[in-house]
Amino acid sequence: MLVQEKNELTMEIEELAKSHDYERSALIPILQSIQQKHRHISEFAQQEVARVLDVHPVEVYSVISFYHFLNPERSGRNIVRLCKTIICDMAGKSEVEEAVERELGISFGETTKDGAVTLEHTNCLGMCDQGPAMMINDKVFTRLDPETACRLLSELK
Ligand code: FES
Repeated sequence: MLVQEKNELTMEIEELAKSHDYERSALIPILQSIQQKHRHISEFAQQEVARVLDVHPVEVYSVISFYHFLNPERSGRNIVRLCKTIICDMAGKSEVEEAVERELGISFGETTKDGAVTLEHTNCLGMCDQGPAMMINDKVFTRLDPETACRLLSELK
């Protein structure tokens, strides 16, 4: 990361913290803003957030590791999250998973070379009676079969 990029990120994080009155409780909203804008929360950003909110960097890292929607690695422009919890599993999640991986040529946990799509697993999306469920960015899709899942992905390219 270039010095200028670091300076801009520091300024951005300081602005975010200021808009939340430097409250420690603003940790998650601040991280969400950084994630949304930069598609990840770099190690440098994590350190800066810890510094401006006066919390330990480990606390920042723990929050990022706990929440699926926060990511220390740069993700694709679109994030596809397939529910891996048991009820969706029993409803045919594995078939959807295999079809999606075949369609994109990557495995879950990876991003396509063109940076278009990142595949992730997630815990229950709260749509257990309509599984298999998958989230594409902010939208949840239910009762998926392999064909429908692949069609949805093809619309992202
Ligand atoms: Fe998949 Fe709840 S188990 S949405």
